[in-house]
Amino acid sequence: MEKLKMHSADLSQDKIAKIRELFPDCVTEAKDEATGKLRLAVDFDQLRQELSDSIVEGPQERYRLDWPGKREALSTANAPISNTLRPARDESVAFDTTKNLFIEGDNLETLKLLQETYLGKVKIIYIDPPYNTGKDFIYRDNFAVEKEQFEKDAGERSAEGGRLVANPDTRGRYHSDWMSMMYARLTVAKRLLKDDGIILISIDDYEQAALRKLMDQVFGETNFVAQLVWEKGRKNDAKFFSVGHEYMLVFAKNLTRLREKQEVWREEKPGARDIWEEFQRLRGLHGEDFKAIEADLARWYSDLPRSHPAKKWARYKRVDKNGPWRDRDISWPGGDGPRYDVIHPDTGLPCEVPEAGWRYSTLEEMQRQIKLGLVEFREDHTQPPFRKAHIRPIPEDADNHQVDSNDIDEESDEDSEFATQVRGSYFYKQSQVSVKYLRKLMGAKVFTNPKDHEELAKLIEYVTPNDRSALIMDFFAGSASTAEAVFKANATYGTNHRFIMVQLPEDLKEAESSTTGTAKKTVQTAIRLMKKNRRPLILSEVSKERIRKAGSAILTETCDPGWNRDVGFRALKVDTSNMKDIYYRPDELSQSDLLEAVDNVKPDRTPEDLLFQVLVDWGVDLTLPISRETLHGNTVFFVDDNALVACFDTGITEALVKELAKYAPLRVVFRDKGFASDALKINVDQIFRQLSPSTEVRSL
Ligand SMILES: C[S@@+](CC[C@H](N)C(=O)[O-])C[C@H]1O[C@@H](n2cnc3c(N)ncnc32)[C@H](O)[C@@H]1O
Repeated sequence: MEKLKMHSADLSQDKIAKIRELFPDCVTEAKDEATGKLRLAVDFDQLRQELSDSIVEGPQERYRLDWPGKREALSTANAPISNTLRPARDESVAFDTTKNLFIEGDNLETLKLLQETYLGKVKIIYIDPPYNTGKDFIYRDNFAVEKEQFEKDAGERSAEGGRLVANPDTRGRYHSDWMSMMYARLTVAKRLLKDDGIILISIDDYEQAALRKLMDQVFGETNFVAQLVWEKGRKNDAKFFSVGHEYMLVFAKNLTRLREKQEVWREEKPGARDIWEEFQRLRGLHGEDFKAIEADLARWYSDLPRSHPAKKWARYKRVDKNGPWRDRDISWPGGDGPRYDVIHPDTGLPCEVPEAGWRYSTLEEMQRQIKLGLVEFREDHTQPPFRKAHIRPIPEDADNHQVDSNDIDEESDEDSEFATQVRGSYFYKQSQVSVKYLRKLMGAKVFTNPKDHEELAKLIEYVTPNDRSALIMDFFAGSASTAEAVFKANATYGTNHRFIMVQLPEDLKEAESSTTGTAKKTVQTAIRLMKKNRRPLILSEVSKERIRKAGSAILTETCDPGWNRDVGFRALKVDTSNMKDIYYRPDELSQSDLLEAVDNVKPDRTPEDLLFQVLVDWGVDLTLPISRETLHGNTVFFVDDNALVACFDTGITEALVKELAKYAPLRVVFRDKGFASDALKINVDQIFRQLSPSTEVRSL
């Protein structure tokens, strides 16, 4: 029976396999000096020969981004780890049914653990990493640090396993350490993105220039989409300029792919929905009396406060059965358009043709538009008619699809779209709005700079025009604004997006002692809240509490019926492997270890812990429904019915193995030491080959 590897993928081996596809002669096998095992290796002499005309080497100048520690960061990113994700049922909400994940742990380790399962599955990554302002702590990845440096940093270490270190701007490695931290994470994160996926990263002036270069390196400059500017309000205390904005860098995993899919991003014109709602109200009052509706609508526009977004669209002042509309030119854009006779309905004579020709290429199309009621004639034929542009445009293929009076009810509203616009690269939303919002939601100020979940919700909707159930990930979750943004987007637009949040269990006590002023006060408030809730004093607990509160709050609002109302999350925690060391080094087993080896699972680990490590290892979705049944006196887990069946008991009998084979599971897993006899262990593969040949059988 094949054993599960129980460690994350070795990325450098994957990359070498890709090189082999292009240059089969240049990849060979060599003995790994540390383990003595054979590994794929690149024959550089051969590769040099293949590419001899296009090589830069040694001190030769070239355009590149470099910093001390870059190489280690890359090997850190590529190195496999044997950690696992342990479920935490009592910290979760709707553990059994939710499709959302909250993972507590270092994000690099988490990203590596998610690689098999979520490879190429994530549509949006949004992150808001520490901006490296000189006051930030950054997580020190063990392998990246030489021992000497690590010891030197010891004084700056925190309780987080000694791995969260202050990064003041006076340090020699101030920028380099931040770059290494980001480089490793972005490299692994990119693999998780779908090929039409995108990543958005918040950043400010401290590292914007460096991050842009780093992204060019990791994602490729051809995949740059935009650098958004988020204006958050001005303070008058600056000496030179008040920099009140920050940035959001947007990159595609593969921009060509997005273009091939003809993806176009548009947003509803802000305020359009309000106009439509007012129209519906007036239609209820006045029925088909469109003149009366127009008069009331004009009054409504003029009574709106100047800052109301609908005020800008007061041009939509005419009304017909398809709603408020404005007139638009009916001539061919750019000139030289077609010229044909369009007969005026009252005078019976051909209308004046616009100088640039008609907008519609054929008379048939023009007549179709007239029939749809989308062309408005003037008093007589001496002037060309104009087009009607509705606040809620009539679909292109609308011939039999017009909104009639019966259509103006809530249900028909769901699929039709409002007038849209492309977003500019600048937007304004005061930072205080989200600060106040979060304080109200949590009952106190427990987080310093939460991002605005409403703005994030709009962005999520904006970049997912064709994906109504996207997987959205934030691996610097903080107060989990992105999780709430996903709820908000789903509740507003009727989508069913899901999220994966990752947050370090940052020690709040440690944070308290290393901060001052209002930041310290905020941490102290968070500590009080966690004490009151009898939760551990770590930041990730604050994040989970926020998701719980946001979830309950949003369900009290009016939610789009298209949303499945999943406000749950499955909480998982990064931890060391469930398996004892001997699992990974069986060759080193000594006589005295033999007794110990009878059970290769650590004593404090539960069957559900084992199940999750198997899911991670096998790349099975971590949110699939899990049921637990007792068969022949043994506990058996069924993941999504038969996606995976697992039994981690001991004393497993042939009868149970045969019973499980009847379910024809895609995968089945047992413990290596789980069988009642050695003979049965040898036979298990055989039993499945006979009864359920497509099942993959593994042990641990
Ligand atoms: C700027 S905050 C994010 C704020 C968040 N966008 C919000 O709206 O609340 C960055 C967060 O990343 C977390 N973090 C830093 N290093 C991390 C790591 N290695 N793994 C996971 N989380 C990390 C920090 O604890 C902090 O909560």
